[in-house]
Amino acid sequence: VFRNKLEFFASAKISTSFPAPVLPEIAFAGRSNVGKSSLMNALTRQWGVVRTSDKPGHTQTINFFRLASKMCMVDLPGYGFAYAKEEVKDSWEELVKEYVSTRDGLQRVCLLIDTKWGMKTRDHELVELMERSKTPYQVVLTKTDIVFPIDVARRAMQIQQDLKTMKSKIDPVMMVSSKTGAGIGSLRTVLSKLARF
Ligand code: GTP
Ligand code: MG
Repeated sequence: VFRNKLEFFASAKISTSFPAPVLPEIAFAGRSNVGKSSLMNALTRQWGVVRTSDKPGHTQTINFFRLASKMCMVDLPGYGFAYAKEEVKDSWEELVKEYVSTRDGLQRVCLLIDTKWGMKTRDHELVELMERSKTPYQVVLTKTDIVFPIDVARRAMQIQQDLKTMKSKIDPVMMVSSKTGAGIGSLRTVLSKLARF
């Protein structure tokens, strides 16, 4: 499915402007600067369709991309961005929460966690919300290239352990680097199964 052309088709600042949920959808959530947009590029090998940036808080709306008529990939604005104006920050967060808890056709939320920093309060809040709303999610550790392999493994174990206290069964934590391509193939395999054939 990721060989199909990735096309931007909608962006929304409020839930009433979300496009109709006609395709199976996967979304990318996580703190600002964790590498959401980069991961979408790496998965599709289509660099530049989803815009990335060194500056945290780059993605400020929910952006919808389609892979032909097979799947919709959704880039969510990052949360926990310290420099944004309070009101703006709150509105992004509320939008993301509303999206992950109510969106029809949402097959999986990839919750991206920076390997170096691990899970923060906001990440835990989102996990709790997804547990409550029964939204299927997958934890993905990002930027594994800048951490020693032993620390990547430790971080994955720690998160797996942390999430065990949650009610639902947790899928194994995946580990990726959009820079080196490590783990991208495995994530592609997992996500491909959710596409329409
Ligand atoms: P917001 O849109 O602000 O929420 O950020 P984002 O989560 O979409 O992050 P983005 O993909 O824009 O990447 C943020 C920064 O991290 C950029 O400078 C990327 O080049 C860098 N980055 C992303 N993935 C990786 C990775 O796997 N390894 C390394 N070393 N850097 C990465
Ligand atoms: Mg982004």
